Amino acid sequence: MRIAVLISGSGSNLQALLDEQGAGRLPGSVVEVLSNRADARGLQRAADAGVATTVFDHRAYDTREAFDAAVANHLQRLGIDLVVLAGFMRILTPTLIAPFAGRILNIHPSLLPDFRGLHTHERALDAGVQEHGCTVHFVTPELDAGPPICQGVVPVHTDDTPEALARRVQAQEHRIYPLAVRWYTSGRLTLADDGPWLDGRRLDAPVRVHAEDDVDAW
Ligand code: GAR
Repeated sequence: MRIAVLISGSGSNLQALLDEQGAGRLPGSVVEVLSNRADARGLQRAADAGVATTVFDHRAYDTREAFDAAVANHLQRLGIDLVVLAGFMRILTPTLIAPFAGRILNIHPSLLPDFRGLHTHERALDAGVQEHGCTVHFVTPELDAGPPICQGVVPVHTDDTPEALARRVQAQEHRIYPLAVRWYTSGRLTLADDGPWLDGRRLDAPVRVHAEDDVDAW
């Protein structure tokens, strides 16, 4: 399976996927890293791993659809099977989603459906929740509302800051994203009309992963 990873920034989730691939645990390979920002640090991570990179600067396009069409054409030309959004800070339109329906994953820094959108760690602290985390989900046109696949769950501490909480959540992102991509690329995970299926059974709720779980064997 040919994987494209779309980024806008640091690329630590991209790195986790590259590490998974480097360890021989990913049945598939990251063949393209695409960014909408030329200064995204993740581009260097991709280059260091010998992966091709492309920059599509969204400011060069008049509309969201024009940008999405350029990206979709590029990914189709490359014969991409799976699109992995890893901190790609763009709202996607159907122009990009439709050609890859059921083949786009995203990671979001909250336990969806709680805290869609931005500033999730601050909002979780303001809301006084006891559990927070991250969610890998299939992408549909409604923002952060596609069918969830798995969640990394972390406790919220009484003296937490948004930064400390973000660090704890990101450590789980780096575990559950490679896991979900491994499930998908090995054919264990698909999206059907009635939701995600994993290992031949429909996921009524996302798989919940805690810090103490050993996910390598999952
Ligand atoms: C991650 O924490 C991811 O959950 C978040 O951006 C960060 C990217 O970090 N994504 C979103 O907020 C999407 N709405 P990274 O560039 O180091 O992987």
